Amino acid sequence: MATSKGDGVNRFLIWGGDGWVAGHLKKLLQDQGKEVYTTTIRMENREAALAELARVRPTHVLNAAGCTGRPNVDWCEDNKEATMRSNVIGTLNLADCCHLNGIHCTVFATGCIYQYDEAHPWGGPGFLETDPANFDGSFYSMTKAHVEEIIKHYTNCLVLRLRMPVSDDLHPRNFVTKIAKYDHVVDIPNSNTILSDLLPASILLAEHRDVGVYNFTNPGAISHNEVLTLFRDIVRPSFNWKNFSLEEQAKVIKAGRSNCELDTTKLVSKLKEYKYEIPEIHDAYRKCFERMKAAGVE
Ligand SMILES: NC(=O)c1ccc[n+]([C@@H]2O[C@H](COP(=O)([O-])OP(=O)(O)OC[C@H]3O[C@@H](n4cnc5c(N)ncnc54)[C@H](OP(=O)(O)O)[C@@H]3O)[C@@H](O)[C@H]2O)c1
Repeated sequence: MATSKGDGVNRFLIWGGDGWVAGHLKKLLQDQGKEVYTTTIRMENREAALAELARVRPTHVLNAAGCTGRPNVDWCEDNKEATMRSNVIGTLNLADCCHLNGIHCTVFATGCIYQYDEAHPWGGPGFLETDPANFDGSFYSMTKAHVEEIIKHYTNCLVLRLRMPVSDDLHPRNFVTKIAKYDHVVDIPNSNTILSDLLPASILLAEHRDVGVYNFTNPGAISHNEVLTLFRDIVRPSFNWKNFSLEEQAKVIKAGRSNCELDTTKLVSKLKEYKYEIPEIHDAYRKCFERMKAAGVE
């Protein structure tokens, strides 16, 4: 099967087309003047997925589809088969269909497969792409960690580990919107993905047909209180919040939540080759909130 028009122009097909990250990707590619299509075909449906690839003939698939649970990942604890159908069978099936057709496949995956441990304490070294997952406190994270172990062997796949993604608006899926609405928040440093900084990087990596696993966050780690302090100071002066401990948090959630810092050395040095820099997370948040403020978000 031919996989492009043969004119050397990249053609992007975004999977999970109605999703939040997918919407940002589509807008970004359109703004860059790139040729982009979206689909909502179920990833696990092999015949339909192959037919969609044959119809659109993309050079690149951006897989932003996945079962994330509503209202949150706790849903996955009670819907394990549906979660596996999407996050395991579907994700692998789509990677395989792309491989058979010579299509580069970027997987928008998660870095929520780690938790701080003795070798990686708060403020210590972050987790490397090569470190084995050590967090299986949620079924969602467990499926994602297992799939990564397999999918990384596909020679057409680029796996990007996002964490707690943040957009320049207050969309309900934005990490800031979520923690700003909670009655209480924990206060732990984490790696976060500011989408305005990282999504352009995902396109660069895909266009260069890079493959393998990348920690896909801004460099550094930032605590919940640091995020909310910046939010209050820049966006919403009247905002205040209450903290609680991890033990108290455990009483109000079904699945555990990952807290960790990812090492971004591999990503930063790869992007340097393309002359693209990602700001450190505190700086990135400040800029993100300033963009929000300038856009009139309150
Ligand atoms: N948002 C986060 O906090 C976060 C953090 C790290 C990583 N990620 C990952 O990034 C990806 C995109 O996340 P998002 O926040 O954009 O999630 P989202 O808004 O829930 O979008 C995911 C989309 O994927 C679709 N989908 C689910 N299962 C599918 C399947 N089997 N075949 C085809 N489409 C399917 C969903 O459609 P239906 O609703 O119709 O099922 C939905 O439109 C996910 O894989 C997620 O795990 C997200």
